[in-house]
Formats: sequence, C-alpha cells, structure tokens
Amino acid sequence: MEIIKVANYEAMSVQGAHHILTHLITKQINVLGLATGGTPEGLYRTLREKINEKALSLNHLHTVNLDEYIGLPADSPASYHHYMHDIFFKYIAIPTENTHLPNGNAPDVVEECAHYEKVIESLGGVDLQLLGIGHNGHIGFNEPGSPFNGRTRIVDLAPSTIEANARYFSSKKDVPRQAITMGIENIMESRHILLLASGKEKADAVKALIEGNVSEEIPATILQHHPNLTIIADEAALSSVTRALPTI
Ligand code: F6R
Repeated sequence: MEIIKVANYEAMSVQGAHHILTHLITKQINVLGLATGGTPEGLYRTLREKINEKALSLNHLHTVNLDEYIGLPADSPASYHHYMHDIFFKYIAIPTENTHLPNGNAPDVVEECAHYEKVIESLGGVDLQLLGIGHNGHIGFNEPGSPFNGRTRIVDLAPSTIEANARYFSSKKDVPRQAITMGIENIMESRHILLLASGKEKADAVKALIEGNVSEEIPATILQHHPNLTIIADEAALSSVTRALPTI
C-alpha cells in the first residue's frame, strides 16, 4: 500500500488527477473505474482540464462506475448518471457508448446486475479503480457486513449512508433505500486502486483501512490485501493514523 499524505482537499484532488493522468498516458489503460460523491469532485474538475490541455485521445477508453441508486431516472439531478455527465463526461471527448453505469431504473434490476458483470468482463476487467470511502468504511455501496466475495448486486443502504447522501436530495425521505453496486470481489479484481479521502469525518474509517483488522464489518479493510493500492488523503483524514507520514 502506498500512502500519499497531502495538506488538504485541493492538493488531494490535484494529486489524484495527476495519478489517473499518468495511468492514462504512460500505462495506456483501457478501462477506468469511477466513483461519485463529494470526494472526487475536485479530481474530476482537474482531470478534465488536464485531458483537454493535453488533447488526450479517449476513443479507446471505457469507464465503469461503481454504483447507482435504484429507482431514480438517469436524468434526475441526484442520479449518478447525471453526476458523471455533469462533472466529467460532458467536458471530455469520450464516446458516450464507452461510459458505463449500472441502470438503476432497469425493469429487471437483478438482470441488470448480471448484465453489468458481463459488461465489465467483456472489457477485460478494470485497469484502475477510483474509490472514495464512507464514514462507516463502505466502498462502492458495500456497507458493513458485505461479503468479501460479493459481486455486482442490489444492496440496502445503511442509515448513516442515507443520512450522509441526503445533501443531494431535497429531503432525507427522497434518498433511495437501495442501490446497485459492484461487489468487493469486483473491486479487488481491479489491477490498480486509487482511494481518496478528505476531512476529519473520514479519519476513523481511514485509520481502520490502514491499521485495523481486516473484517467484513469495515469493508475497506480488505484493501490491505490489494497488491496495487494507492491512498491519497489529506492531513485531516489521516489524523488518527499512528504511523508517521510526511506531508508531500
Ligand atoms: C460513490 C461511492 C461511495 C462514496 C462514499 C464517500 O460512487 O461508491 O462509496 O465514495 O460514500 O462519499 P463522499 O465522497 O460523498 O464522502
């Protein structure tokens, strides 16, 4: 595990964008796994600028998102389809048919999970997966207690996740209670993982991820076993970690 400690959210976003850009340019990756939420917003803003500055061709690139709410139309402002379009896809020259998210509004969501697995498989798996981390240590929407061998499936959101994500809805009661998420096994199959974390409210989850016992009760702890994990986190998110880490 490589840990890059940075001063604040802005530095995390710039370093994170640089990390992805390096993979796009020097490793010529074909499949980029994406996350949503507050944490990667700054990264997407920087990355889209850099991609355009360098006139990077993205015709070969496919993106696969970790998750999507069940029951929200794709054009709902709170859907992850909308989020991705609004903050990233609309700014870059990636073919729309190369951007994949689970369809949480499919008539048969069980079938949709199987279909999404096939999409990832047909692309040859994920080269680099971007992750955030929930306050409770979730990754994707794999909430505490999720099996480490879980694959793409329908999940119930934890009350703390509903609470945290209510900021994107007009009221807490509008937050969907279920989502489709890639499973932990899918995430662990990614060839590289980049996890971002910012803010004091992530400090407990980040400490568990780096120094805790590996347990399904804190899903992110499994990442200790990933051979190519990079964590870029700010001082606040790393404030509970006991090992000494210099800020770059
Ligand atoms: C989003 C996702 C979630 C978020 C996590 C942190 O696609 O998979 O695991 O990364 O809930 O969310 P923020 O960044 O809003 O704190």
